[in-house]
This record gives sequence, structure tokens and C-alpha cells, in this order.
Amino acid sequence: MASNWLRCLSRAHAAAAGGSTRSLAGVCCRRHVCSSPSSRQSCMSAWVVDQYGSNGVLRFTEEATAPTVRSPTELTIQVHAASLNPLDLAMRGGYGAKMLKLRRDPMSVMDGDSEFPVILGRDVSGVVVDCGAEVTHFAPGDEVWAAVPPWKQGSLAEFVTLTEYEVSLKPELVSHTEAASIPYVASTALSALVSGGGLCRESSSNKRVLITGGSGGVGTFSIQLLKAWGAHVTVTCSQNAEGLVRGLGADEVVDYTSGDVAEQLEMMEKFDVILDNIGGETEQWAMGLLKPWSGSKYITLVTPLLSNTDSLGLLDGTVNAGITLCTKAVQNIISSGVFYRWGLYAPDGPFLDEVRKLVDSGKILPVVEAQFPFSQVPQAFQKLELGHARGKTVVRVAENDTRQAEELVQDVCAESERGAQGTAQQN
Ligand SMILES: NC(=O)c1ccc[n+]([C@@H]2O[C@H](COP(=O)([O-])OP(=O)(O)OC[C@H]3O[C@@H](n4cnc5c(N)ncnc54)[C@H](OP(=O)(O)O)[C@@H]3O)[C@@H](O)[C@H]2O)c1
Repeated sequence: MASNWLRCLSRAHAAAAGGSTRSLAGVCCRRHVCSSPSSRQSCMSAWVVDQYGSNGVLRFTEEATAPTVRSPTELTIQVHAASLNPLDLAMRGGYGAKMLKLRRDPMSVMDGDSEFPVILGRDVSGVVVDCGAEVTHFAPGDEVWAAVPPWKQGSLAEFVTLTEYEVSLKPELVSHTEAASIPYVASTALSALVSGGGLCRESSSNKRVLITGGSGGVGTFSIQLLKAWGAHVTVTCSQNAEGLVRGLGADEVVDYTSGDVAEQLEMMEKFDVILDNIGGETEQWAMGLLKPWSGSKYITLVTPLLSNTDSLGLLDGTVNAGITLCTKAVQNIISSGVFYRWGLYAPDGPFLDEVRKLVDSGKILPVVEAQFPFSQVPQAFQKLELGHARGKTVVRVAENDTRQAEELVQDVCAESERGAQGTAQQN
């Protein structure tokens, strides 16, 4: 099993390394058509939701409003590939709606304005087509990747607009499809492990780390990152995922489906850091697996923050979540000297710059379990809903991506020239 997964991953990586990802840097043209205020109404294809619910709420349209550069530090990306995360499923059903609406536009909460249509999709790999005046690190034609913050319109669309800080140059040695599998899980894992777990490249070599739920998107990335940093990594997963996680570098694997997982882990040496992708009951037994009174840390990605604000309202929900976090943090530090923390996704282009180096040096492989064309986004959601992820599910937004991007840039140039001629004639 291990060798099958490994063969599969290395084939994907070798193919990616052999194939060229042609940059459009030579065709340097700003997307004037969208940056001029008068042409803000241009349309694009996208999957939108107009109300929260099950898969039936996903609607394809060719008339979604194309996002435009509205501040000097923003840039617009033509999306070549996107990927799905459990958050997309949850957001489709309304998870976090109140908090995200507030973050999107505080005035809309006061005015009762609708947030719809919402575009889901938290990962993007694509090509820059327009830059604000103060964007210094990117130019039209650059191949980039990014995690799209949940409060912004997502990447299941032809275009997405982000700030320069949220974007990073895409690794050269992988395709857009492979690249799109990484940014959101990478940003989450880095935020949890670095900010929450106090780990980094220099400090991880003598650390024992436990990852619960190591076979999904965050887990498969975190194993590889921690191995690249030299940590000793133990993973919990189903028996049939053992080959995958060992292939990615896991030192020890515990099958949670074969008996009491806590009992099996208790027989091992204690851990410095636990990254919990499962939550719930795991929290109760995981704290006892940490080295006491030695600065060890438990970070869970399964937090009640957004569900609390959904059910209790913005103020009560936030206060309630804050009290829960403080209570658990204080209890654990007093009783055993371990730090209890919540891991939260944080947008961070510079973090992704570090990840790019690890991908281009072959230390981190994209783990793409399934791919869907843009026409089959509902099927991609159905796949995710079945659970048992082994890495990521990716959506190919631009099928023949390089050609389409080139044509787009040429169209934009032509439109821009026509506009310039019109202005000249008027003068
Ligand atoms: N706080 C944040 O900002 C943030 C950001 C990203 C993700 N998250 C959350 O973090 C969690 C992990 O995300 P993800 O993208 O990695 O999810 P995922 O891709 O769905 O992976 C979950 C994995 O856990 C395995 N699993 C299920 N039950 C398990 C158990 N009891 N013990 C061990 N493994 C188990 C699943 O496979 P099997 O069922 O086949 O075992 C699957 O491989 C999700 O709950 C997600 O919502 C939070």
C-alpha cells in the first residue's frame, strides 16, 4: 500500500517537473478593462450560492460580477484551478455566516444587506491579470497561488481579487491543478504549528509531534512540512490510509479504527506538540499525551468560534467562545503545564513563499485525490461530503489554462487599444 501511494505521488511530481508551466510574463498588459470605474460591470463565469443549504443551492452563472482592483495594493488573478476544503461544505450550509458577513462589510450587518450571491472556494492557482498602482511584488502574467480568506469572494470563478500580501508566486515545478491543492491547508497548518505550536524550521528537529486525522488535507501537508523541518511525526488515521501517510514521511502510525486509539498512544513516549484535526472527544484524552511542565502545546483546528456566533449571535457567541478558550487554557496550564490553543487559518503570502521553496525542492508533494472540471463543481462537493479524504479535491477552472490566459490578455489588450483609440478620436 505504501509503495502504491508513493509511486502515485512521485509519478505526479515527476510529470509536473517535466511539464512546463509557461509564464505569460512576456505578454505584459494591464487589465484596463476592469480597472476603469466605467467598466466595473464586466461579467464572469462562477458557481454562486444565493441561499444556504445542501448541494442544490450551487448555481452556475456566466453573469457573476467580475471582481476588480479597488485599492492600490490589490491584484486580480485569472483562476486556473481551485480546491475544496471542509469549510466550503460548511459555508454552503451557512456556517460562519454572521461573523463572515461582519468581516466582509460591517455596514451590511447594520443595514441588513444580503451577502448573496456568495462564491465559495478557498484556494487559487492562476495568473495575475491586473495590479493596483502600489503592487510591487507581482505583475500581470505572473503565475501565483493563494488562499482566499473566507470573508472574500472565492475561487470557484474565473477571477478573484486579493491583496498583494495574500498572494505568492506559484511553485514552478507543479501544475496549477497540483498547486491549488496546497495554499489553504498550508496557511492553516503554518498558522497552527508556528503561531500556536511555536515550531519552525530551526526548532523542530528534536520535537515529537502528534497529528490526529493525518490523512486529510491539513494532515497530509503537515506531515510533510514537519518532516522537512526534522520533527518526529506520529499520525492517527484509518488503516487504509497508513500507506499514504507513511509515504509522506510519518514515523509512526496509529490506526484509530482498530481499538482504543488513546490506549495505543499512551504506550508511546509523550509529545511536545499535538495538532488536532478531529476535535470532539479527542481533546479529552489528547492532553494527557503531552509532556507535562515542559512548554508542550495542544492546538485544535476544530473550534466553536463561528458556530457559536451563528447560534448565539455575534456578541454573545464571541464572548462565549472567548470564555471557553480561556477556561480550557487556564485549566490545562494549572493542572499539567500544557498550553491549550485554537489553530485558525490566517492569510499569509510570505508563509506561502516558504512553502513554494519546499515544493520546488521536492520536500512537499501535492496530494491530489480527485480532480473535477469546472462544469462539475456540485459533483466535487458530493465527493467531499462523502468524507474519508485522502489529500485534496481540486477543480480545474480553466481547462486549457495557458491558452485561455493568453487569449484573455490579448483580448484585454485589444479592448484597451480600442478604448485608447476612442479617447484619441474624441480628443
Ligand atoms: N480552524 C481553522 O481555521 C481550520 C482550517 C482548516 C481546517 N479546519 C478543520 O480541520 C479539520 C481537518 O481539515 P482537513 O481539511 O484536513 O479535513 P479532511 O480533508 O476532511 O480530513 C479529515 C481526515 O480525518 C480522517 N479522520 C476522520 N475521523 C478520524 C479520527 N477519528 N481519527 C483520525 N482520523 C480521522 C478522515 O479519514 P477517515 O474518515 O477515512 O479516517 C480524513 O482523512 C476539519 O475539521 C476542518 O474543518 C479548521
